Amino acid sequence: MKQIAAIYPGSFDPVTNGHLDLIHRGCKLFDRLIVAIACNPDKGDPLFSLDERKEMLKAMTADLDNVTVDAFEGLLMTYCIEKNANAVLRGIRAVSDYEFELQMALMNRKIEPRVETVFMMPAEKYSYLSSRIVREIASFGGPLTGLVPDLVEEHLRRRIESKRAATTEIPTK
Ligand code: PNS
Repeated sequence: MKQIAAIYPGSFDPVTNGHLDLIHRGCKLFDRLIVAIACNPDKGDPLFSLDERKEMLKAMTADLDNVTVDAFEGLLMTYCIEKNANAVLRGIRAVSDYEFELQMALMNRKIEPRVETVFMMPAEKYSYLSSRIVREIASFGGPLTGLVPDLVEEHLRRRIESKRAATTEIPTK
């Protein structure tokens, strides 16, 4: 029987409960799921380094036997072929996601027709959740309960504190 290996690509800066919801759904559908962090220079300076994001994702998926965490540079389709993956998993939260996701899925299909994009919906309670919003709430010291795992919340608080300390430091002459 054909084995289906899927890549779940993203920035994961940081991983949210919405991402984890999708990983849990995806690993039930596919034989193998690779959560792949994109080194995406277009996205500017990430809050967390690639290694930090990888460590957080690894900790949060350690109990899932068919899930691995990796990172990639360059085109997603090149990475899929390298990993012998035949599917890409993406989450659609609301209609507003659709346009960008459709464009990406169709362009990816043009680049590599052997790889299918599969869309899944996270639980409704995560439909308004994104890493960007989580970073913003964290930067103003707002509540993160239910939005990210405790471990990620801890990392966020520490990162925001250290950034704040660095910007309020009095420069020495
Ligand atoms: O979490 P994000 O930022 O929405 O993920 C976007 C991501 C990483 C999936 C997308 O930017 C991507 O696939 N980047 C790799 C480069 C690539 O293949 N670009 C062409 C896509 S049509």
